[in-house]
Order: sequence, then C-alpha cells, then structure tokens
Amino acid sequence: MSNKNVLITGGTKGIGFGIAEVLLSHNYNVVITGRNQQGVDEAISLLGKISGTGKILGYACDVTDLPSMTEMMDKIHQQIGKTDVVIANAGIGHFGSIEDLTADQWQETMDINLTGVFNTVKASLEDVKEKQGYIITIASLAGTNFFAGGSAYNASKFGLVGFSQAIMLDLRKYGVKVTTIMPGSVTSHFNNHVPNEGDDWKIQPEDIGQMVLDLLNMNPRTLPSKIEVRPTLPK
Ligand SMILES: NC(=O)c1ccc[n+]([C@@H]2O[C@H](COP(=O)([O-])OP(=O)(O)OC[C@H]3O[C@@H](n4cnc5c(N)ncnc54)[C@H](OP(=O)(O)O)[C@@H]3O)[C@@H](O)[C@H]2O)c1
Repeated sequence: MSNKNVLITGGTKGIGFGIAEVLLSHNYNVVITGRNQQGVDEAISLLGKISGTGKILGYACDVTDLPSMTEMMDKIHQQIGKTDVVIANAGIGHFGSIEDLTADQWQETMDINLTGVFNTVKASLEDVKEKQGYIITIASLAGTNFFAGGSAYNASKFGLVGFSQAIMLDLRKYGVKVTTIMPGSVTSHFNNHVPNEGDDWKIQPEDIGQMVLDLLNMNPRTLPSKIEVRPTLPK
C-alpha cells in the first residue's frame, strides 16, 4: 500500500476534498491547500477521521503566489519529504457575457486557473522529477466546449488543457506522467453552489477521486494524457 506524498491544491472542499478522501483511505499522505486557514482547518478535521495510515497536512497558501508556494514546499519537505503526486485542482469561475465581464474577473480567472497551475507545477517540479512522479491537472469540458457567458472560464480551461499537454511532452522523458482530467458537471461548491438533492445526477467528487486513484495504479509504462468525464445520464 502507498504512503506516497500527494499535494492537492484547493482541497478544502469540492473535487479536491473528494480526491483527498479517496487517497487518504488508500494510505497516501495528503497535503491540501486553500486560501484561508479556517477553511483548511475545517477540512483537516473532517479528513482526519478517515481511517488509513496516511498523514493529512494542510496549508493556507494561494496558488497565485509563487513565493508562498515555494515556501510551502520547503515546509512539506521538512514534515513528510518530497512530493510524488501533484493534483493542480484549485480553480474558480466567473460567468457572464463579455459585455458584463469585468477586467478584475478576467484577471482573477487567469491568475488562479492558469497561472496558479503554472505556479503549482514550478514549485513542485524538482520533487516530481526526482520521484518520477505524477502531475494531474483538473481542467474541464469547458476546455474543449465553449459556451455563451464562458469567455473567461473557457479561455482559462482551453489554456490549461494546452499547458497540460505541452508539459506532458516536456516531462515524459523523465518518467514523469502528466494527465489532464476534463470533468463535466460535478457536485461541489463551485461558483457559490450549495450541494443539494438535485445534484444526484452529477459526478460526485469521490468519483474523480477514484479516477485519480485508478490513474496512480496504472502500469508505469502507460500514460492516459487527457480524460473527458461526464455524468452518464444527461440532466
Ligand atoms: N464542479 C464542476 O462541475 C467542475 C467541472 C469541471 C471542472 N471543475 C474544476 O474543478 C476544480 C475544483 O473546483 P470545485 O468544483 O471543486 O469547486 P469548489 O468546491 O469551489 O472548490 C474549489 C477549491 O479551490 C480552492 N481555491 C480557489 N482559489 C484558490 C486559490 N487562489 N488558492 C488556493 N486554493 C484555491 C478553494 O479553497 P478555498 O475556497 O478554501 O480557498 C476550494 O478548495 C476547479 O479547477 C474547477 O474549474 C469543476
């Protein structure tokens, strides 16, 4: 069983939290992040109840801040060692016609969804190269299907798919795998959504967690580089 070290950006809720639950129950050491200490502490106290031999750590660390990400990696090294698996998951969405979308909303979307993933990869790159590890980015079907009101989100996720595929080609010669997962609708707190009974038709966060676990268990010689996943039944 595992005890490998996994960093999940944005693990305080939603998809990142679901991935953390599944990996902890399979004995990975899991580090989660979020933007504020209270959110991290609350998630850690819930994740701490999961049985398994893995440790759970958490940091308030904004993915838009590369020096903070690097500082966090140093702390992780001291506490549990180098990182084997990086899940670049943190993301947000601003939606609305280009007539209404503000420059601040555009910039925040790019800073978190795109530059945030760049920062995450840069801060952890030496670790995953040394460990012949795994980088998984959480993009979206919005990274291939555009829609009205999606200009900022679509641009960030189209960009993220391109970034992920390019670094997959950069890093495979080191035995480092990069996969981008492109989910459709997942039950989460995305865009201030409050999970409710009407969400039953959607993918659940732990389903993405199971997908991540399956990828990590795949034979080292095989690399699924881009995965689209959607609810089986349409709404
Ligand atoms: N839900 C869907 O249907 C869906 C579909 C396709 C793709 N996705 C993608 O899945 C990813 C996760 O979203 P979700 O649906 O799980 O949404 P969510 O429930 O709102 O969770 C977002 C997570 O990202 C963290 N986060 C946001 N900005 C951050 C920053 N600057 N630095 C560090 N952490 C940050 C949040 O932490 P705090 O709030 O505690 O800071 C939270 O843990 C996103 O990239 C999203 O685009 C979602």
